[in-house]
Amino acid sequence: MTRFTKKYLLIVLTLCIQAYFCTTVKELQPNIVWTYFSDLAATPRPSFHSSEVTSYLFKFAQQNNFKYKTDDVGNIVIVVPATKGFEDKPITCLQTHTDMVAEKNIDKHFDFEKDAIELLLDGDWVRANNTTLGADDGIGCAISLAIATDSEASHGPLELVFTIDEEVGLIGAINMDKKLLDCSYLLNLDNSVYGTIYVGSAGGINTVADFEFDSLPLTVEQEESRCVVQVLVTGLHGGHSGNAIHKQPANAAKVLATLMFELLEAGMDILLIDVDCGHADNAIPRESSAIVSIPKNIFSQVQHFTQTFQHNQDTLVEPDIRIQVQYFENDQHPTGYNETFTLFQVLNALPYGVISYNLHMPGQIETSTNLALVKTTHLDNKLNITITTMQRSTSDHSRKYISDQVKSVFYLANASRVRTEVEYGGWHPDLTGELLKVAINSFGGPVKTKATHAGLECGEIKSKYPSLQMISYGPDIVDAHTPNERVRIESVRLTYEFTKRLLKGI
Ligand SMILES: *[C@@H]1O[C@H](CO)[C@@H](O)[C@H](O)[C@H]1NC(C)=O
Ligand SMILES: *[C@@H]1O[C@H](CO)[C@@H](O)[C@H](O)[C@H]1NC(C)=O
Ligand SMILES: *[C@@H]1O[C@H](CO)[C@@H](O)[C@H](O)[C@H]1NC(C)=O
Ligand SMILES: *[C@@H]1O[C@H](CO)[C@@H](O)[C@H](O)[C@H]1NC(C)=O
Ligand SMILES: *[C@@H]1O[C@H](CO)[C@@H](O)[C@H](O)[C@H]1NC(C)=O
Ligand SMILES: [Zn+2]
Repeated sequence: MTRFTKKYLLIVLTLCIQAYFCTTVKELQPNIVWTYFSDLAATPRPSFHSSEVTSYLFKFAQQNNFKYKTDDVGNIVIVVPATKGFEDKPITCLQTHTDMVAEKNIDKHFDFEKDAIELLLDGDWVRANNTTLGADDGIGCAISLAIATDSEASHGPLELVFTIDEEVGLIGAINMDKKLLDCSYLLNLDNSVYGTIYVGSAGGINTVADFEFDSLPLTVEQEESRCVVQVLVTGLHGGHSGNAIHKQPANAAKVLATLMFELLEAGMDILLIDVDCGHADNAIPRESSAIVSIPKNIFSQVQHFTQTFQHNQDTLVEPDIRIQVQYFENDQHPTGYNETFTLFQVLNALPYGVISYNLHMPGQIETSTNLALVKTTHLDNKLNITITTMQRSTSDHSRKYISDQVKSVFYLANASRVRTEVEYGGWHPDLTGELLKVAINSFGGPVKTKATHAGLECGEIKSKYPSLQMISYGPDIVDAHTPNERVRIESVRLTYEFTKRLLKGI
C-alpha cells in the first residue's frame, strides 16, 4: 500500500467513524468515562452480589499499579498518587457505591446476577432495555476511574472509595471501618441533578410488621362454588421514594388497598391467598397484586366494581394506570374474611407521601413516608405477610414520630411482630467549608446548594470522620430505581469537566 492510499484510507475511515459516531455508548464523549461505564454495565452488580465488581476494581488497580485496600464489610479504597506538582495538596476521596437496584418490567427476561445491562442510546439520553440502567451509581464509579487514569487530569493524592450495598440500607457506609480513609475532603458522586451541589441529606428508617394469619382449608362445597382471581394494578410511574415522592405518584400498594377495602366493606366474600406489592424498600411500588378466593357468582360484580374504581382514578399523574381482575391458577389455602379485611384496613390506613416541609428552606421536604413492600410467604397452615414502610427526614425527631405513627397502625391491628430496621442518620447542612467554596468557584456557571430528601452515605461517613468536609453532586439521572432510569449524556461530560476543575482547584 502506498503512503497515499494509506492516508486516503485513514481519511475514509475517519469519515465513516464520524458518520456512525455515537452508534454505541462506548463512543460517547468523554470516551474514557463511557468506556468504564460500559465495562461496569457488563459486570453484574445487583445489591448483595458484589464479588464480580470487586474483582473488576482490583484488576483495575493492579493494571494501573495503584495500591488498594478493603475493610471487613467489603468497601474498597484505591489509592491514586498526585499528579506532578500537586503532591502537597490535601487528600481527596472520590466516593461512589458499586451496587445497583435490580428492577425490571414484569415481562422482561433478565437475570441481574448474570446478564449484562443492555445499553441503549435514546436521543440525549442513555437508558437500558426494560431494566434499571445502573447509572446510579455506575456513572459515578466510571467518573472516578476515569479521573484516576486520565492523562489530562491534575489532582492531589486521591482515594477512590467504593462502598458496597448502598441501595439496601447503606450497608457499606454504616459498617465502614473508622480507619479506612485518610482524606480531608470527600466528593460523593451519587447524585442526580446536574447544577446542584448537595450539602445535606435525609436520614431514614424502615418500620416493618409481620402478620401471621391462619389459613383455612376450604370444604369440597366451597371449592366448587368459589374461584381464584388476581387483582392486578400496573402501569404506574413509581420512582425512588426520596427523589420522586414530591411528585405524588400513585402508590400501587395503596391503590390496591383502597380497592380491596371498598370491596370488603361492601360485604363481598373475599378471602386472601397472596398479596405482593413493590420490589425494593426504597422505591414507590409501580405494580401490585392480590390473589384471592371469591364465590364464582360475584366475579362479574367484582370486575364491574373494579372498572368503575379504575375509571375514577386520577389520571393526571398516572395516565397509564391499569387495574385488572382475572382468573388465576392457585391451590394454596386462603385466610379468613376478618383477617383479609384487617390486612387491607392496615394498608389503607398507613400514611403515604410528604408529611412536612422544612420551614426555613422553601420547597425542601423535611419528612415523608412510603409503603414500599407487601410480601406473602405460606407457612404450613399460615399466611405470613410482611409489610415494609420507610420514613425519611432531615430531622431525627420527625423521623421517629412518623415511624411511631406507622407502628401505631400495626399495633392497632394486632400485628404479630413490629420492628424497625436499617436506620441511618441525616447529614446536616454546613455551608461554611473551604471545599464548598472551591466547588462553587470552579463550577463555571450558576449552581444551587441544597439538601436532598434521598439518603446519602455522607451522613454515615461523617459520623465516623466528623472533621471531613464533603459535598455531593452528579449528572442528570431520571427515574432512578425504575426500568425507565436514564442519564443525560451532556450532563455526564459537564460533571466530568467540573470534577477535573474542582480537583485542580483544591
Ligand atoms: C430489548 O429486549 C428485547 C428482548 O428482551 C429485544 O427483543 C429487543 O430487541 C430489545 N430492544 C432493543 C432496542 O435492543
Ligand atoms: C420494553 O418493553 C415494552 C413491552 O413491554 C416495549 O414496548 C418497549 O419497546 C421495550 N423497551 C425497549 C427499550 O425495548
Ligand atoms: C369476624 O368479625 C366479626 C365482627 O367483628 C365477628 O362477629 C366474627 O365472630 C369474626 N369471625 C371470626 C371467624 O373470627
Ligand atoms: C414471616 O416473614 C418474615 C419476613 O420474611 C420473617 O422475618 C418471619 O420470621 C416470618 N415468620 C414466621 C413465623 O416464619
Ligand atoms: C392478637 O393476636 C394474638 C396472636 O398473635 C392472639 O392471641 C390475640 O387473640 C389477638 N388479639 C386480638 C384482639 O385479636
Ligand atoms: Zn445511588
